[in-house]
Amino acid sequence: MKVTVGVSGGIAAYKAAELVRALQQQALDVHVVMTEAAVQFVQPLTFASLTGHKVITSLWTAPESSDDNLDSAIEHIEAAQTTDVLVVAPATASILAKFAHGIADDFLTTLYLATTAPVIVAPAMNVNMWQHPATQANLETLASRNVHIVPPDAGYLACGMTGSGRLADTPAIVEAVLGVLHHRNDLAGEIVLITAGGTREALDPVRFLGNRSSGKMGYALAEAAERRGARVILVTAPTALRPPANVEVIPVITTEEMRAAVLGRMDQASVVIKAAAVADYRPLKPADQKMKRSGPLTIELEPTEDILAEAVARRHSGQLIVGFAAETQDAVAHARAKLMRKGADAIVLNDVSREGIGFDSDRNAVTFLTPSTALELPEMAKRDLADRILQEILGLRRPQKVVAESITME
Ligand code: PMT
Repeated sequence: MKVTVGVSGGIAAYKAAELVRALQQQALDVHVVMTEAAVQFVQPLTFASLTGHKVITSLWTAPESSDDNLDSAIEHIEAAQTTDVLVVAPATASILAKFAHGIADDFLTTLYLATTAPVIVAPAMNVNMWQHPATQANLETLASRNVHIVPPDAGYLACGMTGSGRLADTPAIVEAVLGVLHHRNDLAGEIVLITAGGTREALDPVRFLGNRSSGKMGYALAEAAERRGARVILVTAPTALRPPANVEVIPVITTEEMRAAVLGRMDQASVVIKAAAVADYRPLKPADQKMKRSGPLTIELEPTEDILAEAVARRHSGQLIVGFAAETQDAVAHARAKLMRKGADAIVLNDVSREGIGFDSDRNAVTFLTPSTALELPEMAKRDLADRILQEILGLRRPQKVVAESITME
């Protein structure tokens, strides 16, 4: 997910560098926008070096050609359209006043009016400015418009006075960002069908062929999708997990049962995510009775149906179908070949040969592959990774580029 950090011109501007680093540790893609006053306190190069992205400090580039202005305008509109949250830290009394009164005289204030993403402000200023009725009235206005306010701490201020006005500490601001990102309703209206767990193919009435899937990845996706407003259908092979609340659960055991459930319900779904570890083979002839132990045993196996490929073949327009790939060598090449062979919209690749991620772990690291992109999502808790994967799936819906003619230059 993309976070835009807005830095306005207060002495606490230097603390924004620590915030940027802390947000990056949450595997968030951080971009920085600065007001011209902020540049008096911290060089844009500081943030450009930290983020690897250009820092926008002005509505206008120094145009060598008219294209520069158009490029700059596209960049600004794109920044507004693609950010998932705008967090302004520090937020000065001046920037709060401009936000509250709809003044857009620089890029940050323009971005505030242009974005539909959630907005968080972390005020920092002299205690008298903080307590001034004008500042408090502006904060009330912003709160009434659902701007999240991270209140300043009390304590020693740069101006030598004590009291409220000191920028909240970084963990508090990070928590506010994660809270906003994790509790959005951006999947409202979606019906998401998710498969989870490892199917089991009977060898005899007692034994089965199975795999090490615990279901945690699929259940994390189901929980995250439900929390973000989706209606979730969870087709699950046996697991030791409690299904997430408010989720329709369809328990299955074998690949054939999973296939019937997926093909039977996918027409209702706007998104299908196949996180289950599906047995690729089943015994040709399972034994009717428990096989007695005696010497070497040969069992003939037959391939199971490829549910993902069948789902793609039945995809209705607008429906997104996302598979997973559990690989142990040449992972990206194998996963990309799988993506192209099966025709899914994306494949979530995890290298299950890596220690501590993948099967039965609480953590995972994946590469989100589409036919034209590969996005590394570094190791993190499956609960957090589920949100990141859903965000990338939502991104498959976004127009891939900003349409120049939609921008008018005065
Ligand atoms: O459940 P956890 O313990 O949390 O572990 C998570 C996980 C490792 C199981 C998960 O992240 C994962 O990788 N799931 C896919 C495992 C798998 O079967 O990968 P695959 O490369 O064999 O299959 C590719 C895709 O085709 C998968 O979406 C699979 O659901 C699907 N498939 C596979 C075989 C088959 N007969 N039908 C299918 O639909």
